Amino acid sequence: MAMASFRPPPLALLLAACLSALVLAVAHARTPRLEPTIRLPSQRAAGQEDDDSVGTRWAVLIAGSNGYYNYRHQADICHAYQIMKKGGLKDENIIVFMYDDIAHNPENPRPGVIINHPQGGDVYAGVPKDYTGKEVNVKNFFAVLLGNKTAVSGGNGKVVDSGPNDHIFVFYSDHGGPGVLGMPTYPYLYGDDLVDVLKKKHAAGTYKSLVFYLEACESGSIFEGLLPNDIGVYATTASNAEESSWGTYCPGEYPSPPPEYDTCLGDLYSISWMEDSDVHNLRTESLKQQYNLVKKRTAAQDSYSYGSHVMQYGSLDLNAEHLFSYIGSNPANENTTFVEDNALPSFSRAVNQRDADLVYFWQKYRKLAESSPEKNDARKQLLEMMGHRSHIDNSIELIGNLLFGSAGGPMVLKAVRPAGEPLVDDWSCLKSTVRTFESQCGSLAQYGMKHMRSFANICNAGIVPEATAKVAAQACTSIPTNPWSATHKGFSA
Ligand SMILES: *[C@@H]1O[C@H](CO)[C@@H](O)[C@H](O)[C@H]1NC(C)=O
Ligand SMILES: *[C@@H]1O[C@H](CO)[C@@H](O)[C@H](O)[C@H]1NC(C)=O
Repeated sequence: MAMASFRPPPLALLLAACLSALVLAVAHARTPRLEPTIRLPSQRAAGQEDDDSVGTRWAVLIAGSNGYYNYRHQADICHAYQIMKKGGLKDENIIVFMYDDIAHNPENPRPGVIINHPQGGDVYAGVPKDYTGKEVNVKNFFAVLLGNKTAVSGGNGKVVDSGPNDHIFVFYSDHGGPGVLGMPTYPYLYGDDLVDVLKKKHAAGTYKSLVFYLEACESGSIFEGLLPNDIGVYATTASNAEESSWGTYCPGEYPSPPPEYDTCLGDLYSISWMEDSDVHNLRTESLKQQYNLVKKRTAAQDSYSYGSHVMQYGSLDLNAEHLFSYIGSNPANENTTFVEDNALPSFSRAVNQRDADLVYFWQKYRKLAESSPEKNDARKQLLEMMGHRSHIDNSIELIGNLLFGSAGGPMVLKAVRPAGEPLVDDWSCLKSTVRTFESQCGSLAQYGMKHMRSFANICNAGIVPEATAKVAAQACTSIPTNPWSATHKGFSA
């Protein structure tokens, strides 16, 4: 079978694939224009909530990836922590999930430091290590959200111990795919489970309202058709249900990271809301105003040649509320009132989240001296990564063809449901189908998340996991030895 005897592509081809990932677009860099507005004391009071009326502000910040090539997700989370901290949230109310393998990674050119902007300072200093390494997993994330201390394993046991008047902010930055978000320790997080947890939290009466900011590919699919509009949860996502989200400050971009960095420093949507929050008085900026601003910046001049559609879901009545109720406001910005057109500079280009790791391995390979042993290793890494990608793509295509015929296969697998409908009707079918695939064909790994829609569509077509298992066994006679295919980490569902 073709995939069992996969041969790595020639390096020239590989180069083309990497470069095509760097979709370029011309910049119209705009200069930031922050206009401090002068107000009379009587006017000022109107725009400000009373600190006491707000209840307690809680924040849960989570980076769902690990590995130096995913630098940007943990950098985003650290930056978010600094915003919460400057905004006045207390450490006891901020819960951070990060694998914590970046700052002291041997590949990090600035040991002990993480940056989230090419000229930015350290955002790692002071970040609490509430849940690190293997403690960053779905079970702990849900237990923390639900405030259930006994369900937490490892970590320092900090949970969202919130009451009925409290405001909760959640920020998740990671890879994703249709209906799914990554986790450094398997399994991944599925949209239906997340929304169930939010419903449970609402039923427990332990928040007034909750704002969820989500950066991931196809992140709209986590909430689309799932998140009710009457449980006080407002979500914005980096992309709609069917497109990639984007890494930014990547090597070769403008502005690019300092030359010693081979990796992207941030993600486009994340950077957009955080750089906005860094400079504004959040007592006067509403969720809606920030959404509009972030949408504009993430859309890349409405061209969408790179960039994505930032979306809103859930209780949109919360749009009118000020960010201050959730993430506080840095007192240093008290005179920097929101002005509609003070958008931060746009980006010249960005790298598709799914290709950002390739960019890293390519950069690393490119810089090494010809015929050094390190260059050979880097080449091997790059080829393994590409090899895994084609194995996954080919196996799923073949399974589609075996199930639906060579004409029907691609049509069924690629079908996108109308907006407002969930990805899949039977989420347990989706999860079983994923496990079935992985036990026959090897791990989907980070890249393979993109194929979740195909598995969902197989379920939507009424194919039961047992039937998919038979076909997967035909498509994949064995699990390739490629390290990305290894299933020792467990299944992603
Ligand atoms: C908390 O988690 C434990 C262990 O998973 C579970 O038995 C218990 O029912 C949970 N408590 C609540 C209030 O959900
Ligand atoms: C904001 O403006 C007021 C009035 O001019 C001034 O007293 C205050 O120091 C300013 N705050 C900051 C942080 O610059």
